[in-house]
Amino acid sequence: MKKRVFSGVRPTGRLHIGNYLGAVKNYVALQDEYECVYCIVDLHALTTLEETNRLQSNIYEALLDLLAAGLDPEKSIIFVQSHVPEINELFTLLGMVTPLGWLLRVPTFKEKARLHPQNINYGLVGYPVLMTSDIVLYKGEVVPVGEDQLPHLELAREIVRRFNEHFGETFPEPQAKLTNFPMVIGLDGKDKMSKSLGNHIELAATAEETTKKIMSAVTDPARKLRTDAGHPEICNIFKLRSYFESSVATALNKDCRAAAIGCVDCKKALAAAINADLAPLRARRAELAARPEYVIDIMQDGARRAQIIAKQTLAEVKQKMGLVPI
Ligand code: TRP
Repeated sequence: MKKRVFSGVRPTGRLHIGNYLGAVKNYVALQDEYECVYCIVDLHALTTLEETNRLQSNIYEALLDLLAAGLDPEKSIIFVQSHVPEINELFTLLGMVTPLGWLLRVPTFKEKARLHPQNINYGLVGYPVLMTSDIVLYKGEVVPVGEDQLPHLELAREIVRRFNEHFGETFPEPQAKLTNFPMVIGLDGKDKMSKSLGNHIELAATAEETTKKIMSAVTDPARKLRTDAGHPEICNIFKLRSYFESSVATALNKDCRAAAIGCVDCKKALAAAINADLAPLRARRAELAARPEYVIDIMQDGARRAQIIAKQTLAEVKQKMGLVPI
């Protein structure tokens, strides 16, 4: 039997190149080898109460990007987290086997608490419990994620072990699966590519927008003049080019060090490569966007299929936890 993959995408609106290289390409590739369940995690988005007025359009835009990137409803279950309300019940139940100390030590929690000391809500502390609930409600065994999610996955495994010890073998221990390109740096050359920092390129951007953004991106900070030797190892543009045009990486590395190519030309080539790579995705996205009823249908069908699995798991958990009346 095929192993089951589960992963969640936060609905922050249109996806960008960082999401694509770091996660979504992997999702697409896994579809043939595994039974995949992919979820747009709207409840997780509520833990920080950002952009709730745009939540529905953010979900829809993310869904369009996922489908355009190649998630295939014939192969995978694609659904929205809150459309399968069994998640809330499992979240409550797993909360009972999760020591608070574990949650307070999670690095992403500590970071969010430091940044927003006035908004440390109970849901935020429970974020990794909700994430664990996602995975185990569908008995996910393999979880494709970026590096930043590894502490959450470790916690999920601990919660699973504790549950299984207490109530008997129920859930498989989920394994993280990293991509070859787990962390994409943004156009500022410093931070992870993210929408909130504005250092990103949307998958759905036009070719012109893409080129404009690339041309203003930071390159090798140690290279001041066109005649200076470049340092591809510290240049984010080099990294992006070696991904989008891996065949040129060796020659580019040499040319950059010898100052045989300047940053402007290098960025032009990168923009052209990204636009060529994304052209089919962008075309598919436009086709899907013209058929909203079809897209909504995929989402509803995904929830229906996900719920069949969720109901089974929840019944088993309730039975094991002593919640089934005599
Ligand atoms: N926390 C993940 C992120 O920020 C999203 C997520 C929610 C997730 N539930 C999940 C990822 C379950 C993998 C499995 O990217």
